[in-house]
Amino acid sequence: MVKVAVLGYGTVGSGVVQVIGDNGDLVSKKSGTEVTVKYILDLRDFPGDPYENLVVHDFNTILEDPEINVVCETMGGVGAAYNFTKQCLAAGKSVCTSNKELVAKHGPELLEIAKANNCSYLFEASVGGGIPIIRPIMDALSAEKIERILGILNGTTNYILTKMEKEGADFNDVLKQAQDLGYAERNPEADIEGHDACRKIAILASLMLGKTVDSEKVYTEGITKITSDDFAFASKAGYTIKILGVSEAKGEDSVLTYVSPFFIKKSHPLAMVNDVFNAIFVTGNMVGDTMYYGKGAGKLPTASAVVADVIDAARHVGKNVPCYWDAEEAKLADIKDASFKYFVRVKAESLEQIKGIAPGGKVVDGDVSGQAGYITPVLSEKVFAEIAEKLGDNMLGRIRVYC
Ligand code: HSE
Repeated sequence: MVKVAVLGYGTVGSGVVQVIGDNGDLVSKKSGTEVTVKYILDLRDFPGDPYENLVVHDFNTILEDPEINVVCETMGGVGAAYNFTKQCLAAGKSVCTSNKELVAKHGPELLEIAKANNCSYLFEASVGGGIPIIRPIMDALSAEKIERILGILNGTTNYILTKMEKEGADFNDVLKQAQDLGYAERNPEADIEGHDACRKIAILASLMLGKTVDSEKVYTEGITKITSDDFAFASKAGYTIKILGVSEAKGEDSVLTYVSPFFIKKSHPLAMVNDVFNAIFVTGNMVGDTMYYGKGAGKLPTASAVVADVIDAARHVGKNVPCYWDAEEAKLADIKDASFKYFVRVKAESLEQIKGIAPGGKVVDGDVSGQAGYITPVLSEKVFAEIAEKLGDNMLGRIRVYC
């Protein structure tokens, strides 16, 4: 029998309790043992909630209860969540989490503690919400040398960009909708500035290499500078705009990992991934391209992934589920050495200037009064930085082009 404690009764935590409640028979059958929730830890009380009698306020009630062998950490943050996770693992209780910030920051340390105490630290829900992506990389693709991971990794920003493109919606209104739907982080800056996607690609890049990619060293650009004018140009040129997390092997032991908005051809499969959906391409040296698609945020999709980890933990009570991720830092390639095409939006009178300093590109007509668009040929980041400096205030915006 497996008794579960859920730390944090917010959007995801309440979803976990609901999934185990509603799919209880199935969860128990697939676990090979009966699985029930015994405690919910939260500072608040929930009068009238069907599970209000499970709510406790003292973490030690959970830690000191030998019946609890699986804990779901759905609190978020790297303060109490880190402390509680360490204590649970040290006590031999497996921890299943959706907390990508904690996994990105302390993953290898927590995996080590789990291994030393014959339990598991599992984090399927930390990337891609309900999409199975951690387990496919660790298990189904374990024979592969993974060469590239590329994806739409944040539901909130994909929701915002989709509404901006399809409905001409205002950025702030759509962000509010994403928050109301339970997609956004508590501080939505983490979504719109790209930090959430950065943590997710850092986790995936670490699993790709088996070494740690430090999310704080990953180049990250969000979507706050993207305007409806950019979409006008993109649309006329046959593109849409998506924010992508990318990790590409460079040579034997180095990796280029970054998050950036991109112009992407409307015919590309990622251009068709809309609203809260995420999609992730994983390219292995034997299998080639594989793609994973599903709801990247939201209560039940994310909770479903946490409960899948609960089942895995329940099947391995007293054992460690191994993970290919060491504390050793991976060698990161510098984005300054990468090359892209760039869409550049300039004041109309500066079109000739950019054609002169970045010859060989393509003019894009966005039908936007007083503005012109231009897609440069492939240039290194260093060369483009010099061009941007020459353009100065005449450059109104620039977005990398995925090709
Ligand atoms: N805020 C995150 C997103 C939640 O929008 O993708 C899921 O990780």
